[in-house]
Amino acid sequence: MKIAIGITGASGAIYAERLLRHLLHLTQNKDVEPPAVIFTKNGQDVVQFERPELLPWLARQIEAGHLVEYRNDDFFTPVASGSTHFDALVIVPCSMGMAGRIAGGISDDLISRAADVILKENTPAHPRTLILCPRETPLSLIHLRNLCTIREAGGTILPAMPSFYTKPQTIEEAVDTVIQRILSQLRLIPADHRGWQE
Ligand SMILES: Cc1cc2nc3c(=O)[nH]c(=O)nc-3n(C[C@H](O)[C@H](O)[C@H](O)COP(=O)(O)O)c2cc1C
Repeated sequence: MKIAIGITGASGAIYAERLLRHLLHLTQNKDVEPPAVIFTKNGQDVVQFERPELLPWLARQIEAGHLVEYRNDDFFTPVASGSTHFDALVIVPCSMGMAGRIAGGISDDLISRAADVILKENTPAHPRTLILCPRETPLSLIHLRNLCTIREAGGTILPAMPSFYTKPQTIEEAVDTVIQRILSQLRLIPADHRGWQE
């Protein structure tokens, strides 16, 4: 299984960080290739602003071979092509700009191109998963229409909306309620999985 994570310039770098930490933990010793990480330029800037400690941690994981990084302007990477094998793209956090580019089929950077590839190549014989975790409020009619278009095309819209019935005590616990939904959509954990939160 090959998973790519796209990080854009929406607020919520902590969602990307928690997903990557859990993903690395869950995929060790499983039949999953090292996940690929792709930043937009604005994604890099917002992570630097909100969660600067994520960048050196990512660099260490990449150096250790636990993650690979693709440049967002490099269309020669495997996720840019329908003829290569990759299974899932999670865009977290997803800006409204990125949602608009995907809905419009613009494909002018690697993340929007990889999303385009997933939507066009997704078949029952070879299912591929696109998950967008939008982080914006309030949503305009344009945002809603773009998200609707992506859903109709086969993508999953999984807003970064923590749940509170589990009574999270920390920001990380609240964020992890969203991460759990992502991992369950990727079928890496069952929907009611709790063990990794303890
Ligand atoms: C600190 C900060 C927070 C932002 N938060 C959001 C957000 O929550 N949602 C959003 O859609 N855009 C947000 N933006 C604006 C995006 O970064 C901007 O629209 C950008 O063009 C997105 O580019 P990208 O999709 O290539 O990453 C934020 C910008 C900054 C500087």
